[in-house]
Amino acid sequence: MKYLVTGGAGFIGSNIVAELLKQGQEVVVLDNFATGKRENILPYVKNPLFTMIEGDIRSFHIVRSAVKGVDYILHQGALPSVPRSINDPITTNDVNVLGMLNILEAAKEFGVKRVVLASSSSIYGDSETLPKVEDMRVNPMSPYALTKYAQERYCQVFYKLYGLETVALRYFNVFGPNQDPTSQYSAVIPKFIRLIKNDKEPVIYGDGTQSRDFTYVENNVWANIQACTAEKAPGEVINVACGERYTLIELVQMINKILGKNIEPKFAPDRAGDVKHSQAGIEKAKDILGYKVRVSFEEGLERTVPSVK
Ligand SMILES: NC(=O)c1ccc[n+]([C@@H]2O[C@H](COP(=O)([O-])OP(=O)(O)OC[C@H]3O[C@@H](n4cnc5c(N)ncnc54)[C@H](O)[C@@H]3O)[C@@H](O)[C@H]2O)c1
Repeated sequence: MKYLVTGGAGFIGSNIVAELLKQGQEVVVLDNFATGKRENILPYVKNPLFTMIEGDIRSFHIVRSAVKGVDYILHQGALPSVPRSINDPITTNDVNVLGMLNILEAAKEFGVKRVVLASSSSIYGDSETLPKVEDMRVNPMSPYALTKYAQERYCQVFYKLYGLETVALRYFNVFGPNQDPTSQYSAVIPKFIRLIKNDKEPVIYGDGTQSRDFTYVENNVWANIQACTAEKAPGEVINVACGERYTLIELVQMINKILGKNIEPKFAPDRAGDVKHSQAGIEKAKDILGYKVRVSFEEGLERTVPSVK
C-alpha cells in the first residue's frame, strides 16, 4: 500500500514514516519543513520505498501531485501550538484549515481509500468533566483548537457529502523521539527534559497542579495505521491517549528521577488559552480500533529522556 504522510518530517509524522517503512509500505512525505526537521527523515532518503516532496499544503497544485496514486493519507501536517496560534491566528488558520480542505479535495478527486486526521484534545477546552469523551460538547478556546475542530468537521462533511472515508484521531499531549525541544513553542516534555539535563530550572505556568494525559508516540502511530482499515472508523472522531493524567509537578519529579537530578521548577503566571486538566476516555478507541495502551507514560518517558539533546 502507498501512504501519504503530510508533516512527515515532523515529530509524529516521522515516527509514523519509520513504522510504515518497517512494515514494507510505500511512503510519500509532503512537508515544507516549517516546524519539521530534515534530520527526522534523513535515515529514509535512500530507501526505495520512500519519496520526499518538499512543498506547502496550502498549495492545491502541490497537494494534488502528492495525493495522486496513494491509498491512504495520514494528515499530520499542520502548525501546532496554542501560543503560536494566539500570536499568529491567520497563518495557523491558513495552514490548518485550507491545508485540510486541499487534502480532502484531492483525496476525493483521486479516490483515496481513507484520510486519517491528526486532531487535538484542545478542542474539548476547559470543561471540568473528566475523562473527556468524544460525544461531549466541544469548547475550543484558541485559534489552534478552533482550526482542529474545523478540520474534523470538514472530514465529516466530506464523508457525508461525497463518501470519502475520513477518521479524526484526537491526540492528547503526545511525546517521544524527534520532538523538537528548542523552539519557543516546544511541548513541555522535550523542553523540560532538555532544561533539567542542562541543570536549568523548567518554568511552569500556573501552580503546577495542571494535569495532562501524556501519550507516548508509539500509541499514536499504531492508532493511525489501524484507523486506515478499521471497519467502523469512517466518519468517527476518536480519542487516542493513555486514559490517565499526571501533573506538571509530577512530570518534573519523574524526569529528575530518571536523570538522577533534583532540579526545582520555577513558577510563572498562567498562560492564556491553556486548559487546566486533560484526560481522555479511550473506550471508543478500544471498541473501534481495537486500541490498547502499548507504551505507558512512565515507560515512554524512560525511552524519551535519552533521545533529547
Ligand atoms: N504533539 C502533540 O502533542 C499533538 C497533540 C494534538 C494534535 N497534534 C497534531 O499532530 C500533528 C503533528 O504534530 P507534531 O507534534 O508532530 O508537530 P510538528 O510541528 O513536529 O509536525 C508538523 C509538521 O507539519 C509540517 N508543516 C507545517 N506547515 C506545513 C505546510 N504549510 N505545508 C507542509 N507541511 C507543513 C511541519 O514542517 C512539520 O513537519 C499536527 O497536526 C498537530 O496539530 C499534536
